[in-house]
Formats: sequence, structure tokens, C-alpha cells
Amino acid sequence: MRVLFISSEVYPLIKTGGLADVSAALPAALAELGVDIQLLLPGYPKALEFAAKKSVQIEVADFMGVGPMRLISARTPDTNLRIWLVDCPSLYQRSGGPYQDGNGHDWPDNALRFAVFNHVAAQLSRGLLLPDWRADIVHANDWHTGLVPMILAETPGQRPGTLLTIHNLAFQGVFPIDIYPRLDLPGGNVIPDGFEFYGKISFLKAGLSYSDRLTTVSPTYAREILTAEHGCGLEGLLQYRKNDLAGILNGADYHIWDPATDAHLPANFNLQDIAGKRVCKTALQAELGLEPEPETPLIVLVSRLTEQKMADVVADALPRIIGSGAQCAVIGNGDRGIEEQIEAAARQYPNRIAVRIGYEEPLAHRVMAGGDILLHPSRFEPCGLTQLYAMHYGTLPIVRNTGGLRDTVVDATELSIRESTATGFTFEGVSTTEMLDCIERALALYQQPLAWRKVQRQAMAQDFGWAKSAHQYLALYHDLAPFDAARPEAIIDDCVREKAAG
Ligand code: ADP
Ligand code: GLC
Repeated sequence: MRVLFISSEVYPLIKTGGLADVSAALPAALAELGVDIQLLLPGYPKALEFAAKKSVQIEVADFMGVGPMRLISARTPDTNLRIWLVDCPSLYQRSGGPYQDGNGHDWPDNALRFAVFNHVAAQLSRGLLLPDWRADIVHANDWHTGLVPMILAETPGQRPGTLLTIHNLAFQGVFPIDIYPRLDLPGGNVIPDGFEFYGKISFLKAGLSYSDRLTTVSPTYAREILTAEHGCGLEGLLQYRKNDLAGILNGADYHIWDPATDAHLPANFNLQDIAGKRVCKTALQAELGLEPEPETPLIVLVSRLTEQKMADVVADALPRIIGSGAQCAVIGNGDRGIEEQIEAAARQYPNRIAVRIGYEEPLAHRVMAGGDILLHPSRFEPCGLTQLYAMHYGTLPIVRNTGGLRDTVVDATELSIRESTATGFTFEGVSTTEMLDCIERALALYQQPLAWRKVQRQAMAQDFGWAKSAHQYLALYHDLAPFDAARPEAIIDDCVREKAAG
């Protein structure tokens, strides 16, 4: 089973969110199951710097009119998987992020940047770039890879089976239609219905229309995106394809997120011996300039500061949260207005609210270990990974009952605590009041050390490792693979075309 796994982010080479974590851990879990899985990533500067064992495999003087392109063979730093980097300096050698410049503006040529990436993916998967490797399955992820299923389906000849995983339906890669001819897509100048989206073109819609199978990252989100509330305008298409759509829950990579071995922590701890967590809390309070009060509950938020994450609601509620007797630490970046509001609250309550605007991986680990409660209220959440990490670190999550949060956290009620199933706290609506009520419930339980410890143990004992989900993906690949091997129609079509062409 040969799989080309295409993603725009792979930890630790490039990361803006959970996509990177998944694109590192899932391929590694599949490789352990015997899959020949190879990754493809744009050659962003840090990726080119940090990938291991690099060698240039192919050089093209001018690829699609964007100048030189080199396909670089490399290995992922920790897991030693084959990763192909599309080194195309005119498109990817830039300071700033993978999608935006340093000021938060989308790169104006994003359509072309990712179209080129997708063309390389399609050619690599069909065996056109390497003499000895082609894919049975192409596993695409999010809009950045949405053209690959379309290119493969519309190009005559044998092709791999295709699977597209939706990590976030809200990001769709929608561009003005006049860029279409520049993208070099099969089928000439007629824009396929499956690509057109309200007078524009949508990379995600192309993937959803043409991929043989679709998955998203939790069972609940798979149901939610069929509705107008969460379908982001694509619910009609998703309903049409619902028999090809499955929800497979993300996992946590416990090689990286394990309090027993985490090298970023001042002290390690585990389910049997949690003493080190107290050391982590004291150190974190000192590091962030919070009052050194080991008994005060410390609520943490590690997140993109955006509306998706309800960071606007949290920012409004901060004074009331600390009014309930808690301390708060916020680590994140995102909407400037929300960042500023949180910074202002931290200035007003310097020893009770701490904020670090930015993206700091080691600090995220220390916060996860030193906090008592992770606040994770989302308007929608395809899966969410931080609540999984938090539980493993004995930091009880407060989540909104949506998407993957609903599938992973069990609300602490009298009954669930008694039955030893509780792992955190959940609330339903998006109002500040409902969130604050839930925080009150969590703080009340915090005052009952025995009950708290019981829920904490239950949370730490959960196994959200990748093994189970990797098996589900493997089963899906197997479903697709015979489709690939026995594709007589495609081959016959080719023969017919060749004959017709004389
Ligand atoms: P999303 O992908 O929607 O942002 P996830 O929960 O799936 O949400 O993944 C978020 C990932 O990004 C986690 O690995 C989390 O630890 C990390 N993260 C988020 N914000 C920060 C930050 N400011 N600094 C470091 N890591 C962060
Ligand atoms: C997206 C989603 C998040 C999910 C992650 C990885 O960024 O917002 O919920 O966990 O992708 O699949």
C-alpha cells in the first residue's frame, strides 16, 4: 500500500495549528501499520532548513511558468518518514507565514502557490516524476490540496484512489475566477461545476466534489457539516456526498505530549505520581508573573485567538473569571482586536491575568502542565487537540459541546463522577453566561480535592493515541485500493482515446 500524504503543514517543519500535528503523527502511525506512506510539503524556508537527509531528486528549469522547481527528497526529523519538499523559491521562499505575510495579509498569489503544489502532487502520485514510486492512494488535507483529486480525476489514464480530509470547513481557498486559466487545469477553459462557487473558484469544493472519499476529524463534526449552521455554504454538496463521508477522530501524539517524559517541563509527572504537576504550576506562575499561590485555580487558554475559538467571549469575560477567584494565563495569537483586549485586561490585573501573544511551542507544553483547567470554548471545532493534551496532563478541559470537543470530553456531573466517566466540563450555548456558569461549576469542584482528583485521574487515563484512528484510515485506504487496481474503465477509456487519436 503506497500512500502519498499531502499537507501544507507538518510538525515540526511548519505549523500554524492542529493540521501540522495530525500530518506528523497520523503518517507515523500508518507507517507503523506497514503502509509505505510518503509526505509532500511546500518547500517553506524552515522546512528546507530543518528536514533531515535532504537530496535534490528532480530539477525543472521552469515549472508552470513560475521559474525553477526542485523536488527534494528528505526525512521527517523525529519519525524518519520520507518527505518530499517542493522547492519553488518564487512561491515559497518568503519570510512570513505559509498563507500570509508578516502583517496578516493573504499572499496575493495563493491560488498559484497551491495550484503548483497540487500539480506536483498529482504528477508524483501518478509515477511521472520518479522512476520507481507511484501512489495507490493520495490522501489530501484541507483546501491547500483540494485540486489534486480534480486533476487526477480529469486526467486520462490510471490514477490513484483519492481521499480528502477536512480539518476545517471554514477555510476554503476561494479565489476570483479570472485566475482559472493560469492554474493549468485539465479540461481547457470550461470551469467545472465542481470547482465553481458563487461566481468564484473554490479549492475545497473541488476536493469535495472530486475526491473518491471524504473524511473529517470527528464523528460529530461529520454530522454538523451537513447542516446550514456548520456547512459554510457547502452543506448541499456534503449532503450529496454523505455516503462517502466519514468522521474519524484525531489522536494525540503521546511521544510529544507526555508529562512523564516532556523535556520542556521543570518536573515530570504521571498518573501514578502527580507531584511534579505542582512544581510545574509554581514555575509557571513565576514565569508568567502571576501571584505565587499554589492553591488558587489556574485557568489556561492555548489557542488561536479567533472567533472560531470564542476568544472574543473569553476576552470580554476575563475580569469576571478572575472575579470568581481564579488566575488566568492566555497563550495565543490571532485577531489583533482580541489580542489587544486581552493585553489590556492583563495590564489591569497584572498578577492575576497573564498573556503571551505569539506562538511558542515549549511554553505551550509548560502551560498545559502547569494549569489546572484548560478553557476551550469554540463556536465550532472540527476536532481540537489541545483538550486531548490537557487531559493527559491532568488539566481538566472546559469545552463547548460541539464537534470533536463533544466526542472527547465527558461532563462532570454527580452521576458521571460517581461512575468514574467524567473527564472535564461541557456547556451548550455560545453566550458568556453559559461559559461563566460552566467555569463556576469547575471552580466549585476544584474546592473538593477528592472529587477533583478523581476526575483528573480519569482524564489522565484516557487513551486518545493514534492507533485506533490509524486503523480506521487504513481500512478506508483498503476500500479504495481495489478501486484503483481494478480500474478497467479508465484503462479502456485510455485505449479508446489513443485509438481515436490514431
Ligand atoms: P486549531 O488547529 O484549530 O488551531 P487544534 O486544537 O487542533 O486547533 O490545534 C492547535 C495546535 O496549536 C495545538 O498543538 C496547540 O498546542 C498549538 N497552539 C495553539 N496556539 C499556540 C501558541 N500560541 N503557541 C504554541 N502552540 C500553540
Ligand atoms: C483544524 C481544526 C481543529 C483540528 C485540526 C486538526 O485546525 O480547527 O479542530 O483539531 O484542524 O485536524
